Amino acid sequence: GDVAVLVPAAGAGVRLGPGGPKALRLLGGEPLLVHAVRRLAAAPSVHTIVVAAPAAEVTAVRDLLAPVAPVTVVPGGAERQASVAAALAAVPAGPEIVLVHDAARALTPSDLVESVAAAVRAGRDAVIPVLPVVDTIKEVGVDEVVLGTVDRSALRAVQTPQGFRRAVLTAAHAAAGDPLTDDAGLVEKQGVPVSCVPGSEYALKITRPFDLALAEHLLVTGG
Ligand code: C5P
Repeated sequence: GDVAVLVPAAGAGVRLGPGGPKALRLLGGEPLLVHAVRRLAAAPSVHTIVVAAPAAEVTAVRDLLAPVAPVTVVPGGAERQASVAAALAAVPAGPEIVLVHDAARALTPSDLVESVAAAVRAGRDAVIPVLPVVDTIKEVGVDEVVLGTVDRSALRAVQTPQGFRRAVLTAAHAAAGDPLTDDAGLVEKQGVPVSCVPGSEYALKITRPFDLALAEHLLVTGG
């Protein structure tokens, strides 16, 4: 494998309701992070996995993942971007392709990991998995009155893993300003083209209680 995967897993998970760090919430009796790491480790390209855990949970996460796959666990930061930067700093020399994958996308298929890695290997600097937007999208003002309708055909919903040539991601994080919600956004700011590949519905981000219920169903029926 020529790929390192960074797994930001240090979020509080407030939108999922009470119950501790999101990556450690149970899905089918196992933490979301265990599901995510197992699927990453099953992708043949993956050589190194670095997890950014909540600072108070680093030892617990190390113990949790030891039977799942060989991983490095580092303390995350206050924002997702800081957690990714901390994980990136812990990648050893070697891998020239770096993927960033949210622990919350626990059911992401190994095939999607491979397709993102393959697109970077084929020469792309930055690659994101995307899905078409199915709902009509409106822009609204502060008073919740519609300002206009956005052309849906030009929009994509963005998932992870996002893949980068290592030097591109390192440069983007070194130059980073205000925290963004994804790593491709940092790379875009550097003027580097970002390419899309087809995403997967199984790569949904488990954010709200409804998502967790859906993921439980998908797990039983073949996720
Ligand atoms: O909050 P959101 O759902 O956008 O978080 C996406 C991912 O980033 C999650 O896997 C979460 O654990 C991670 N995260 C992190 N450090 C933070 C905030 C979020 O690693 N400070």
